[in-house]
Amino acid sequence: MSRSAHPAGPRHADVFTEGHYSAPPADLNALDPKVWAHTVSRTDEGVVTVGGLEVTALAEEFGTPAYFLDETDFRERARAWRTAFGHDADVFYAGKAFLSRAVVRWLYEEGLNLDVCSGGELATALSAGMPADRIAFHGNNKSEYEIRTAVEKGVGRIVLDSFQEIVRVAHVARSLGKRQRVQIRVTVGVEAHTHEFIATAHEDQKFGIALADGQAAEAVRRVLGLDSLELVGIHSHIGSQIFDMAGFEVAARRVVALLAAVRDEHGVELPEIDLGGGLGIAYTSDDDPREPHEIAKALSEIVTRECEAAKLRTPRISVEPGRAIVGPTAFTLYEVGTIKPLDGLRTYVSVDGGMSDNIRTALYDAEYSVALVSRVSEAEPMLVRVVGKHCESGDIVVKDAFLPADLAPGDLIAVPATGAYCRSMASNYNHALRPPVVAVKDGAARVIVRRETEEDLLRLDVG
Ligand code: LLP
Repeated sequence: MSRSAHPAGPRHADVFTEGHYSAPPADLNALDPKVWAHTVSRTDEGVVTVGGLEVTALAEEFGTPAYFLDETDFRERARAWRTAFGHDADVFYAGKAFLSRAVVRWLYEEGLNLDVCSGGELATALSAGMPADRIAFHGNNKSEYEIRTAVEKGVGRIVLDSFQEIVRVAHVARSLGKRQRVQIRVTVGVEAHTHEFIATAHEDQKFGIALADGQAAEAVRRVLGLDSLELVGIHSHIGSQIFDMAGFEVAARRVVALLAAVRDEHGVELPEIDLGGGLGIAYTSDDDPREPHEIAKALSEIVTRECEAAKLRTPRISVEPGRAIVGPTAFTLYEVGTIKPLDGLRTYVSVDGGMSDNIRTALYDAEYSVALVSRVSEAEPMLVRVVGKHCESGDIVVKDAFLPADLAPGDLIAVPATGAYCRSMASNYNHALRPPVVAVKDGAARVIVRRETEEDLLRLDVG
């Protein structure tokens, strides 16, 4: 049976309407800088390198599957956000995208703050030396323990997500004899153009307090009435993997309107607004993300304009990019295992990982790119679906892409832009061992999160 799955044959029509690519890329060996980390390139022999190290050597040393994170690129992106927003704004990296102690240290060194949303993230941040006052604590259902720890450790702000939480945080702060700085998270009623599961500003969902029908104004009233809370600002996060700035602009406008209403009612000008994270990145060559300086300019212009119109002092802006910093900086390296051509349809390429190291395709129908990285090939393109080794047919890593038709077991392929929400959402499904994260910089590689072992799995199994 031929492995050349592209493109003739009547059944291809279905594949292409369902798939993401209308045609194979002009050059299968090319690495689009939009989707690959900054230091990724190919040697003259055709092996892909990152940070000056060949993936073949990296696979030998660290095994596959593994995430390779380009530290230089991470630092450059973090710095670009920091510089774009300048001294009148704060950048809080959203730790949920990917967090480890090394990453916390890089962020600290690059002058960023950190957003955490669980006791585990807070513990990681503090253990790596992030000063508590540079940490913001999020979450729609923080536990008593999490609230107490955050207040005790002195986190810079707790983002209040509900009326019950106002009472809980006030109570904990009072019992500890502290005055806790807080923001209130509001839902501004924007429909962000992204997957339903990662859109967070429409009202019919679990996060935040609605601006509509006066709920947010009521939350402000209650917080201002509590001595143990210091209300420093309003927070809005409209969703994730968003390209269109319009949603952020509407959010900024509505949050500023709330600040004006608070000033009118209470004579208080709240000093901060946080516009959340959510900026999209390129997963495939079709995506065109905004640069941090464009985003900073757009947001600060709209906030300044709206504040001038409302005769408010311009508050300090903060943002919380997660994906936009770490997403493009890593790729997942896999070894090709079994290959199953389905004539006239597509070829299934199984790799040694899958939905346990990247759940995003199964969960959000996410699109990814893929490339053969251990060598170049001049073979014709074949339409592939890259799948994992889990006992589930939805175990898809890359739904539709092209790889050379001479692909063979043992080849290394890599999926770029897996720095965000891949390791952090990895699971032990089928008792898979979660892959390591290896940081690469200037010709040196070091493990920053080690590969799980069978002993790790068995250590938790105490029955
Ligand atoms: N701030 C808040 C309050 C958030 O909830 C989030 C993400 C962020 C900032 C960072 O958003 P980012 O800049 O990374 O888009 N697992 C999903 C994404 C969930 C995002 C949750 N909150 C995915 O893989 O696409």
